[in-house]
Amino acid sequence: KAGLQYFGSATDTPGQRERAGLDAAYAQYDKIMWGGEFGSTTPTNGQKWLFTEPQQGVFNFTEGDYTANNAKKHGLSLRCHALVWHNQLGEYVNQVQWTPETLRAQIVSHIENVAGHYKGQCNHWDVVNEALEEDGTYRKSVFYNVLGEEYIKLAFKTAARVDPKAKLYYNDYSIEWPSKKTEGAARIVKMLRDEGIKIDGVGLQGHLTAEGGVTLDQHIAAIKSFTDLDLEVAVTELDIRLQEPATTTNLAQQKEKYKNIVGACVQVKGCVGITIWDFYDPFSWVPYFFPGEGAAGLWFANFTTHPAYDGIVEAL
Ligand code: XIL
Repeated sequence: KAGLQYFGSATDTPGQRERAGLDAAYAQYDKIMWGGEFGSTTPTNGQKWLFTEPQQGVFNFTEGDYTANNAKKHGLSLRCHALVWHNQLGEYVNQVQWTPETLRAQIVSHIENVAGHYKGQCNHWDVVNEALEEDGTYRKSVFYNVLGEEYIKLAFKTAARVDPKAKLYYNDYSIEWPSKKTEGAARIVKMLRDEGIKIDGVGLQGHLTAEGGVTLDQHIAAIKSFTDLDLEVAVTELDIRLQEPATTTNLAQQKEKYKNIVGACVQVKGCVGITIWDFYDPFSWVPYFFPGEGAAGLWFANFTTHPAYDGIVEAL
């Protein structure tokens, strides 16, 4: 328990789940989500650009507020996600012929409005999400193509000005073990620090596989590579998918893998929190994005828990 401040779960709005074709016993779900099992939450989708600024200059906080308001009502802390990301943008963002000036103004306005709306409510903000390719170079998003790495500086500078109390994070996947991409994330941190721009933490998404080979020591090494920079770390979107169907064997592998990453976070001072990317298998993004894989969460459809739940309890 070196420094763990919270254990949370992301959650979506009932409306989003219905649109995704998921109907489920919300009462049973809500009891676990809001009833004391978790100390923190994140809106799975509701604070993303697509929902908060679906048309240029038109803001909507209905989806994000659902999770933020429930967090407040039930005493959970709120991790906010995500201000600048290349996915789930309003369509216009990839269509407008931006100049550096107009795109700068758009990024600033988006952050002022969204982080401004949630000011004081966000324990953490994922300011920039997934700016890196697997080899550690920058992803060629609309933001990068027009502004280069300047867009990252602008996003952090603006978020720091708008909500000075929120901890500001860079968030990405495949940085849960030492790699070129993990080094790339450290480079972003140093770039910001060199210019005196505030960054407080790095988020390791943690979309892992039960069959994969990442070890406890590799997780520890990656987390330490960031805490050594005097940053905090959080595991922000943890789920560990397996090849369907779930069997005794792959569920045991999954338990081991959950134990590894939770254990690594618990053991390294400066790893402050863990968020599961929805605890309930039927509400997981995994089956849609990774065909043939699933059962990535901690609760099966019938609301019994995975062996991994006990693995986490053992690691905590
Ligand atoms: C996913 C959501 O879970 C899905 O519901 C949505 O359709 C797509 O996005 N990395 C991130 C998250 O930072 O925002 C993504 O969430 C999963 C990958």
